[in-house]
Amino acid sequence: MLKKTLVSSLMMGVLLVTSTVFLVSKQVVADDDDGENHGSKHVYSATLPVWKTECGECHIAYPPQLLPAASWQKMMGSLDEHFGTDASLDADVIAEILPFLEKNAGSERKYAAATGKSDMRITETRWFIKEHDEVSASTWKRIDSPANCAACHTTAEQGNYDEDFIKIPR
Ligand code: HEC
Ligand code: HEC
Repeated sequence: MLKKTLVSSLMMGVLLVTSTVFLVSKQVVADDDDGENHGSKHVYSATLPVWKTECGECHIAYPPQLLPAASWQKMMGSLDEHFGTDASLDADVIAEILPFLEKNAGSERKYAAATGKSDMRITETRWFIKEHDEVSASTWKRIDSPANCAACHTTAEQGNYDEDFIKIPR
């Protein structure tokens, strides 16, 4: 009798521990998700035709997930002076694109600009610098700009930055 109670309370304990671990790991995954898709990490599939056309004209349409909403707001308010070029859009087009960027934006905390860097560049966020710390200086020199994601991420055009599709140019 005593033995049976002991066994069942042990089993309850195991169950409790397992479900706690499960809950905790679920939470960690959800916290790191930041609008990334399903199980597939670093695939950003949210899209909007007008955004893809207008913001994918001169460079790939950068995933909205990789900058906080405040950065997108600032950028959409200064398109006439966009990184040394004029990327102006009509107000009604901006009114379509900005809510899409805001809705899918990354967190202020994770995608904050590195100290003294631009808050409108994905490539100058602390996240980007850390994520790319294994890329050597000589590799960076070989490509025209770190903002040229597709130089290494062969499927950047489709929003897929999974490490399986990275090919460092030599
Ligand atoms: C007329 C061409 C042009 C258009 C249109 C354009 N951009 Fe750009 N964009 C640039 C140039 C040039 C740069 C600087 C690229 C570099 O540093 O290599 C840039 C850089 C950026 C960067 C920073 C990249 C980095 O360093 O992390 C973001 C983000 C960006 N653009 C978003 C947008 C969005 C959003 C739109 C649509 C509203 C847009 N761009 C439309 C030319 C354009
Ligand atoms: C010089 C080549 C190169 C360029 C250019 C580059 N990346 Fe990367 N990227 C890498 C490498 C290498 C990693 C590290 C992969 C790993 O963790 O094994 C990486 C990792 C990533 C990851 C995480 C992928 C994963 O599965 O862990 C994302 C997201 C990403 N880059 C986005 C970008 C974006 C957006 C741009 C352009 C603004 C960009 N990268 C430009 C080489 C590059």
